[in-house]
Amino acid sequence: MNHQSKLPNLETTIFSVMSALAQKHKAINLSQGFPDFKGDQKLIDLVSANMNAGYNYYAPMPGVLKLREAIAKKYDDLYSSTYHPDNEITVTAGATQAIYTAITAFIRPRDEVIVFRPAYDCYIPSIELNGGKAISIQLHKPDYKIDWNNVAKVINNNTKMIIINTPHNPSGTVFSKEDMLQLQKLTNNTNIIVLSDEVYEHIIFDDEQHQSVCLFPELKSRSFITASFGKTFHNTGWKTGYCCAPKDLMDEFVKVHQFNVFSVNHPIQLALAEYLEEPNHYLELSGLFQEKRDLFLNLIKESRFTFTPSKGTYFQALDYSNVSNENDYDLAIRLTEEHGIASIPISVFNENKLDEKMLRFCFAKTDDTLKRGADILNSI
Ligand SMILES: Cc1ncc(COP(=O)(O)O)c(C=O)c1O
Repeated sequence: MNHQSKLPNLETTIFSVMSALAQKHKAINLSQGFPDFKGDQKLIDLVSANMNAGYNYYAPMPGVLKLREAIAKKYDDLYSSTYHPDNEITVTAGATQAIYTAITAFIRPRDEVIVFRPAYDCYIPSIELNGGKAISIQLHKPDYKIDWNNVAKVINNNTKMIIINTPHNPSGTVFSKEDMLQLQKLTNNTNIIVLSDEVYEHIIFDDEQHQSVCLFPELKSRSFITASFGKTFHNTGWKTGYCCAPKDLMDEFVKVHQFNVFSVNHPIQLALAEYLEEPNHYLELSGLFQEKRDLFLNLIKESRFTFTPSKGTYFQALDYSNVSNENDYDLAIRLTEEHGIASIPISVFNENKLDEKMLRFCFAKTDDTLKRGADILNSI
């Protein structure tokens, strides 16, 4: 048989590559973005209680109503923004499925989607699988700031979607209110859809405010928000998230959702619905991770790595220009194999693998792991 790959240039995701290498060399794994500490026992108990109570059959297609109501309440409480649980919220198998589904629902062959690089690695393959064309706008260290004039220049009649991500993986930067106003102005009176990946919404530092698209009415009317309970509640392996959008957009989303996953893990949804009743479960995250960021940065402040402190997410980008001339991919491999610490080379998220001598380290780890990681970085 003669198959023509739909994604001929796709390589195995860097997260799998680095985690496997870390395991092989018994390295401290600060590469993949997941906590190495246990999530709240209360949430785990709620899941097993719901399993034991027999909720092991299909959940409703858009998600358990009680969970959609809890999500709607969160948007109301935090942003005074209304999403109707009946038809503007869908529970998904992680943010990844929400992103794929929103793209698939709208992107046709030759549609253009603007993507800011470095970009989380599921965006572009999802666009290309649908025949769309990713239009990359490369941002640069140290602040990865968007020049909105450059965005205006690439918008044309084929532009169907713009994908944003704040707080931003991998740089740890956040959008300002001014960024959002610029985006709102640029998309006003167009048919452009905005996909706002807000999985790190609750991990934001130094009194920065999360700028959700739902705070900007014109923007909200054309936007999907994608979110991840895995990131929020330290259980990335449960792959549960959700998507919010105005009804006209969500109607199309659900048509695809219905046939690419139909419905999501039932007992976990019921457990999350109850767990969300206590807002502190997500409001305390910023404090927890800010302490970890500060610990990590304090421990490596005398090292040869340089940095701008992360403003959100649980990632810290480190500039290694003073350490080595190697490209970031080779260095990430060598640090894992020879020094026992794994990280992610940021070039894999960049256009044409642009190498700006930056590595991404995940600080969602126990203090002990961070101390051992910092000892290694200080010795390099
Ligand atoms: C920016 C961003 N979006 C989406 C995801 C995927 O989230 P989930 O694990 O809920 O699918 C991640 C996971 O690392 C991410 O960093």
